[in-house]
Amino acid sequence: MKQVSKDIESSMAFFKVTTSLLLLTFLSATLSLAHPGSNFGWGSGPFGGGSNGLLLQFYQFSCPQADDIVMSVLEKAIAKEPRMAASLLRLHFHDCFVQGCDASVLLDDSATIVSEKKSLPNRNSLRGFEVIDKIKAKLEEACPQTVSCADIVAMSARGSTILSGGPSWELPLGRRDSKTASLSGSNINIPPPNSTIQNLITLFNRQGLNEADLVALSGGHTIGVARCVTFKQRLYNQNGNNQPDQTLEKNYYQGLKSVCPTTGGDNIISPLDLASPARFDNTYFKLILWGKGLLTSDQVLLSGNVDKTKALVKAYALDEALFFEQFAKSMVKMGNITPLTGFNGEVRKNCRRVN
Ligand code: HEM
Repeated sequence: MKQVSKDIESSMAFFKVTTSLLLLTFLSATLSLAHPGSNFGWGSGPFGGGSNGLLLQFYQFSCPQADDIVMSVLEKAIAKEPRMAASLLRLHFHDCFVQGCDASVLLDDSATIVSEKKSLPNRNSLRGFEVIDKIKAKLEEACPQTVSCADIVAMSARGSTILSGGPSWELPLGRRDSKTASLSGSNINIPPPNSTIQNLITLFNRQGLNEADLVALSGGHTIGVARCVTFKQRLYNQNGNNQPDQTLEKNYYQGLKSVCPTTGGDNIISPLDLASPARFDNTYFKLILWGKGLLTSDQVLLSGNVDKTKALVKAYALDEALFFEQFAKSMVKMGNITPLTGFNGEVRKNCRRVN
């Protein structure tokens, strides 16, 4: 008799736990489908992603394999061409700085869209669109109209960092895709390579990012390359007096001159981190200490007479773990710039055009 009531008790307990779990699963799925992006006060608990409506577990029920699909495409693309990791990391930056992280950067020209791809910072420069297309096609097969292009770009930036040897981070998701693009926004908001330190700080502040974010995120230049046209001024006429930039280390300067002629050769490329261009590490900061930052915007983090950025360049050059930690934090912050959530925007079927 005792055994029977024990059995009943334990099966009741099992029933209760199972029902609660099912209810939670159902509620979460329903809420995330009905109100994609709302966090319903779950704050930064297991579902948390901050106060902007993004959630760490956004696709937990609607597309649990999303990140695996992203990673499997990235692995192949980056194995074939290591630079692709750099290009995809940069794509997220150029997306987020123009009307927020909304995949506006991916839209092609159309009757209603003037593409950001033609802007000064992007033209003949931004890459990785075909890889994003491939990821999107696979995700549409697995989970139709569920995973936004803006989230694909954010996941690709993180995956590219990891696959290049850099840090990982918990990535809030649930961004939706814009139905508009802004060519002028792209020209105005993305800092040019010959920026002064003040200009960099101002443009980052405009996005809610501070000096610590500026220095850590500039560390993204530990991978990838830049075209001659973006640093030529430093070699031949930095201040309008036909003299090179005095902050350039002499041997490095000679080397750059030999690959980047006075006239022509604008599309010849040079590594942003000459020591380890495909490895995500802190060499970028060490090179700046040695006068071997490639762009003016890299070198002014140290030479620009702002104590805070100077001190951070030195700190990250000494301590890679510190750089990784701040880079991860700052990537989350950049990824949170004014996302479209809830009923705003859409989930594009094709990242290149609005539905
Ligand atoms: C601080 C202001 C920044 C400036 C002025 C700047 C400027 C540039 C320029 C001029 C290039 C070379 C483009 C070309 O020659 O076609 C470049 C490449 C790159 N940038 Fe930045 N950038 C900045 C911040 C960032 C941030 C925040 C990230 C990411 C976290 C980033 C990631 C990259 C990467 C990875 C590349 C190499 C891309 C490739 O090889 O395809 N940059 N950047």
